[in-house]
Amino acid sequence: MLLILLFSVLLCQDSRFRLRFLDMMLNKEVRQIITAKANVTDYIRTFLKNKNFLEFVTPIMNMNAGGAAARPFVTHHNDLNMNLYMRIAPELFLKQLVVGGFDRVFEIGNQFRNEGIDMTHNPEFTTCEFYMAYADYYDLMEMTEDMLSGMVKELTGGYKIKYHANGYDKDPIEIDFTPPFRRIEMIGELEKVANLNIPKDLASEEANKYLVDACARLHVICPPPLTTARLLDTLVGEFLEEMCVNPTFIINHPVIMSPLAKWHRSDNALTERFELFINKHEVSKS
Ligand SMILES: *[C@@H]1O[C@H](CO)[C@@H](O)[C@H](O)[C@H]1NC(C)=O
Repeated sequence: MLLILLFSVLLCQDSRFRLRFLDMMLNKEVRQIITAKANVTDYIRTFLKNKNFLEFVTPIMNMNAGGAAARPFVTHHNDLNMNLYMRIAPELFLKQLVVGGFDRVFEIGNQFRNEGIDMTHNPEFTTCEFYMAYADYYDLMEMTEDMLSGMVKELTGGYKIKYHANGYDKDPIEIDFTPPFRRIEMIGELEKVANLNIPKDLASEEANKYLVDACARLHVICPPPLTTARLLDTLVGEFLEEMCVNPTFIINHPVIMSPLAKWHRSDNALTERFELFINKHEVSKS
């Protein structure tokens, strides 16, 4: 007892992170955050299993790292005397399962990306990916809405949560998960919010020049190369993502930004894609 009291006096910010078990023993809020995360994982797993999704654990060490564009961690297999790469996404294995006849599959697990670290990026992070045959992006948006709003309701008792988006010493913001979530068309909404009139043919030289000029005029800095896709991505980050505090789907990305995605059924310059933003951060995408 005395020992614990002594520790609680000594438990400054620095030792909190080195002696995590003491932090958990002494701080009720820390235990709550940790159990909440476990409850979130349970909720997602139960939600998908109730819809007849099968859970898989696909390989983490591979001969090459695919399914995303990111720098992988390299490790070495002594017995085979070969380098292996830690996965950056489970996507390719899960898609093979769908092709192989498993119509609904998912995996919850950690991905590894050998890249920068900041408040919202960790080299090791947990994702849930699910794949579903015979569904389109409208079905997926509805499922994502059900999953997240249902989770918030179950874990907090309501659809609105308070979140310390600007640090614990500042007032929390409110995030409203009441479904349906807002849906905005990427190009149309960007034109409206930033007051632009982007040339229709996004693959044209004219569109590229228009966007270079627009960024300069709006004081938006896009690191080179100034491709049309990168310029649009920067403008969307600046003008659209910044207003997505309550859950918002940004939908219908142009083909030039998502060359591998399914084409839009009625506009061949667009794709049937979405990205879901909450508190200005991307939390889900198709
Ligand atoms: C997590 O779930 C358990 C079991 O249902 C419950 O007792 C606990 O209060 C939940 N914790 C949080 C923070 O949601």
